[in-house]
Amino acid sequence: MRLGAGAVVAGAAVNATLLEPAALAAQREAGGRKIRFASIGTGIRGCDLLRSARNVPTGECVGTADLYDMHQRAGIEAWGADVPTSRDYRALLDRKDVDAVIVAVADFQHRRVVLDAVAAGKDVYCEKPMSHNVADGLAMVEAVEANERIFQAGSQRVSNIVYKKAAEIYASGRLGEVHYIEGHSDRNSPSGAWVYPIPSDASPQTIDWETFLRDAPARPFDAARFFRWRCFKDYGEGVAGDLYVHLLSGMQCISGINAIPSRAYSTGSLTHFNDGRDFPDLLATLYDYPGVTVSLHCNQNNAAGEPIIFYGKEATMVINGNTLTVTPQETSPQPEGYSLNGWTAAAKQQYLNEWHAAHPAPPAKLAEVESYAAPQGYDDTADHLASFFHAVETREHVVEDEVFGNNAAVACHMANHSYFHRTVATWDAATKTIKG
Ligand SMILES: NC(=O)c1ccc[n+]([C@@H]2O[C@H](COP(=O)([O-])OP(=O)(O)OC[C@H]3O[C@@H](n4cnc5c(N)ncnc54)[C@H](O)[C@@H]3O)[C@@H](O)[C@H]2O)c1
Repeated sequence: MRLGAGAVVAGAAVNATLLEPAALAAQREAGGRKIRFASIGTGIRGCDLLRSARNVPTGECVGTADLYDMHQRAGIEAWGADVPTSRDYRALLDRKDVDAVIVAVADFQHRRVVLDAVAAGKDVYCEKPMSHNVADGLAMVEAVEANERIFQAGSQRVSNIVYKKAAEIYASGRLGEVHYIEGHSDRNSPSGAWVYPIPSDASPQTIDWETFLRDAPARPFDAARFFRWRCFKDYGEGVAGDLYVHLLSGMQCISGINAIPSRAYSTGSLTHFNDGRDFPDLLATLYDYPGVTVSLHCNQNNAAGEPIIFYGKEATMVINGNTLTVTPQETSPQPEGYSLNGWTAAAKQQYLNEWHAAHPAPPAKLAEVESYAAPQGYDDTADHLASFFHAVETREHVVEDEVFGNNAAVACHMANHSYFHRTVATWDAATKTIKG
């Protein structure tokens, strides 16, 4: 569908296209059986996933588990129908009528839950970042492969129709050589820095604190650590694990660079949100990927949005939210201007005469700026779930599998390694460890 014909951006004609959420539409038409899934972790993301799943007709939630009583009730509300719930996710894994699980627990618990789930024969949709550290990710890859399960990591942008369009444009070569990709994810609010409110009923009675800490150091009940776990190294990975992973997953799926970077160098600071947290509120990282330098930052003290920019020799491609813009670069041959300022008028004239004689054709017209957008209200999480349910049913491969998810997560761990060790982090493929 064409949009806004004749619209003009910065003096250039814009060819605007509204994209269609194809995957979901195709799923609806398929009319196959519903995948019966259980949700483990029904906090912020678990509830959002259940709300999105209501719009995906190929999946049906048949049970949930969560360690906090109110989150159990919120999960039922989010799904919109009563399903069994408890604190013990293992009861869900024992059920023969459960095909798959959605894992939306805090990052440091991904490994335990995923390993248990695949050992029980369940396919897994595991939230991003896939792992809490390198060892966890490697163990998860091994377990998924050994049990021949479908695994999809939960960076939903990989299924976003705008990202798919961007991948198509990138693969076509229309951007020319791309050697630099930039992205950032900036917010400027307490919520953006994970200073989430603590519910008034939070207590050791309503929260299974002991089970929460099963893979972390023991400590007395601390509601701030339970609800703001992203701030602490024992449970999360700061802005890298929370936000870089989306930028990296987007970069990987668009560029086709499904690899661990060879080097990462980070710097940053903890200034405004110096509230006892472990992680910086500003992190900037330069990565070396094969043939491409990737520059990322996350700033929790300025809301500059979440763009990803691909700088090509022939065009610049920018994704901002659910909008994609491709702006051609002027690359037609031009006579030299600047350096002729040091030439005499006669020499300059002779050069220009010769140049124009060698280039008799008028310069090619610059191509139109292209823009693509998803429809208002578009939900890429619904498309990502649809893609997972489709794979569970067909056993077809998913793009964001355990290797893809692990590659993005390791890059996050390298960023933190560099920041905390004040060094360049390198990936040692032989030992599968971060060095430096
Ligand atoms: N894809 C996205 O855009 C996106 C957005 C937000 C969060 N996430 C990811 O989703 C995951 C959850 O984040 P959140 O914001 O919902 O956190 P949250 O703290 O709001 O919810 C996590 C829930 O997991 C439960 N839990 C922890 N261990 C458990 C266990 N062993 N058994 C059962 N329940 C357990 C907790 O009780 C809690 O309710 C994280 O990995 C996070 O990075 C992804």
